[in-house]
Amino acid sequence: MNIGKKMEKAINDQIQAELYSGYMYLAMAAYFEAQNLKGCAHWMKKQAEEEQEHAMKFFDYVAERGGRVTLQAIQAPKTDWASPLAVFEEAYAHEQKVTSLIYGLYEVALKEKDYTSQTFLQWYLTEQVEEEADSSEIVEKLKAVQGAPQALLMLDRELGQRG
Ligand code: FEO
Repeated sequence: MNIGKKMEKAINDQIQAELYSGYMYLAMAAYFEAQNLKGCAHWMKKQAEEEQEHAMKFFDYVAERGGRVTLQAIQAPKTDWASPLAVFEEAYAHEQKVTSLIYGLYEVALKEKDYTSQTFLQWYLTEQVEEEADSSEIVEKLKAVQGAPQALLMLDRELGQRG
């Protein structure tokens, strides 16, 4: 059965949100490059790639369900932060917001009795648990290394290992 108009619209909005997430993480990568924290920059670039994948998974799903993907404008992300901690705090807050957006999509799928989309969205519900946990863990680690530049460099090296 083809995707309904309400579900199609909601997913198109989410494609925009995922692409914006990628753009935001890329801006965070640029900030870390400028701070010479290459490991953090690497982590953010990987995160930006993941967001692109999240967007493409929605993109392919809409097309597969006989819907129409319509791309929307992506707003410019913020370019500067007060500290590495502030960046990851914002990343964590952003992921919490994305989780609520996914909940919103799920509610549309429930209301529309779109069982296929309900199943499809399960993947994103699980993924958001990981997305929140990853950024929140780094927030805690950054709090622990505050005022200890050597420890920050070690953490930077650790984040540079992200595959
Ligand atoms: Fe696409 Fe970070 O959630």
